[in-house]
Amino acid sequence: MALAQETEAAAVERWGVSVLMRAGLRAEAAGAVCANLAYAEARGLRTHGFVRLGVYLERIEAGGIVVGARPQIVRNGGATAVVDCHDGPGAVGGAYAAELAIRLAGEHGAGFVAGRNANHFGAAGWYAETIVEAGMVGLVACNTDAVMAPPAGGRRVLGTNPIAIAVPGDAGVRPLLDMATSGVAYGKLIVAAEEGSEIPLDWAVDAAGAPTSDPRAGLDGALLPAAGPKGFGLAYMIDMLAAMGGAQVSADVHPLYGDRSIPQGLGFAMLAIDPEALEGALFAARVRRLAEAVRSAGRAGQPAPLIPGEPEGRFAAEHAGRAPLLPGTRRTLATVGERYGVPFPLL
Ligand SMILES: NC(=O)c1ccc[n+]([C@@H]2O[C@H](COP(=O)([O-])OP(=O)(O)OC[C@H]3O[C@@H](n4cnc5c(N)ncnc54)[C@H](O)[C@@H]3O)[C@@H](O)[C@H]2O)c1
Repeated sequence: MALAQETEAAAVERWGVSVLMRAGLRAEAAGAVCANLAYAEARGLRTHGFVRLGVYLERIEAGGIVVGARPQIVRNGGATAVVDCHDGPGAVGGAYAAELAIRLAGEHGAGFVAGRNANHFGAAGWYAETIVEAGMVGLVACNTDAVMAPPAGGRRVLGTNPIAIAVPGDAGVRPLLDMATSGVAYGKLIVAAEEGSEIPLDWAVDAAGAPTSDPRAGLDGALLPAAGPKGFGLAYMIDMLAAMGGAQVSADVHPLYGDRSIPQGLGFAMLAIDPEALEGALFAARVRRLAEAVRSAGRAGQPAPLIPGEPEGRFAAEHAGRAPLLPGTRRTLATVGERYGVPFPLL
C-alpha cells in the first residue's frame, strides 16, 4: 500500500496518546501533547510533529519531564499572570496559559501570561490558534536552549525563540505568522539528518563557526539568525518577554537533546487581545482588506502572493489529515511502539 494511503492522522494521534499514557502521563496531558504534534503534522510542520515524540518519551523516562506536574498560577495582577509549569510536558503548561490568557482578556480586554519552568512546547501556532478560536488576537512566543550564534558568528547564545501571531478571520482569510527567529527551525536540521540530505550553506555553522552543508555538523555547531540582526534582535526580545515571568534566559535553558533527566526550564509569553474591546467591526474589515491588497500585489502571470499561514493552511486542506509521515519519523515511531508495547498503526 502507498504510504499516503497507509497514513491516518487520527490513528497516529490516538496511538501517541496510548504510548504517552503507558509512559505515565495523565490522559488529558497525553492528549494535549499529541494534539500539538498532530496540529504540526497536519499543517506540514514536520519539524514539530511526531518526530519529537521520541525525545519527549526519553525525557519522561529520565525525569526531565515531570509526568504529574500541574501548571500553577503563582502571580496574578489583574490582566497579567505568571504560571509555573513545574517542569511538566510543554504542551500542558502552554495550553493552560493560553486558556488563562483568553480568560483574562475576556475580563480585561487583554490578558498577558508569562510562563516559567516549562519544557519544549512544539509549534507556537497551536497556542495562538487556540486564542483565535476564542475570537481573540493571539501572540505566543517562547525561548529555547541556545543554538543560535550572533549575526556575525560566534558561540551559541540565543534560542531559535519562535513567535506566532494569529488574528481572527473567516475561512478565506486567517492570518497566522508562526516562525522560528533563526533562518530555519532547529528541527529542519534534525529532519535533514534523519533523511540524510544536505542543507543550504546559510542555515548553520559548524562547531568551528564555518558554514556547513552537513546537518549533523550544523547540529554540533550553531544556527544562523533569520535576516541577520533582525531575527537575532527578535529572539533577544522574546527572551526578555519570557523573563518577565521569571523564566531563565535562553543562554541558561537546558538543551532538549541534552541530559534527558534535567528539566529544560524554559519560558514563554502569551498575549490575548479581544478585538471587541477595541474597534472590532473595523478590524474585521481591515483583516479582509490587507489580505486582498497582498493577494493583488503579485507579478503578472505568477500565482497570487500568500498571506502568512496560507501555505500551511493549504497543506492542511489539501491533505485533510492524510499527509504522509516522513519515512524517518515513521521508522522512529515504529521503534517507539515496540518499546512501549503499543504497535505503531501504520506498519
Ligand atoms: N517550540 C520551539 O522550541 C520552537 C522553536 C522554533 C520553531 N518552532 C516552530 O517551528 C515551526 C516552523 O517554523 P519555521 O520558522 O520553520 O516556519 P517557516 O519558515 O516554514 O514559516 C514561517 C512563516 O512564514 C510563512 N510563510 C512561508 N512561506 C510563505 C509564503 N510563500 N508566503 C507567505 N507566507 C509564507 C508561514 O506561513 C509561517 O507563518 C513553527 O510552528 C514554530 O512555532 C518551535
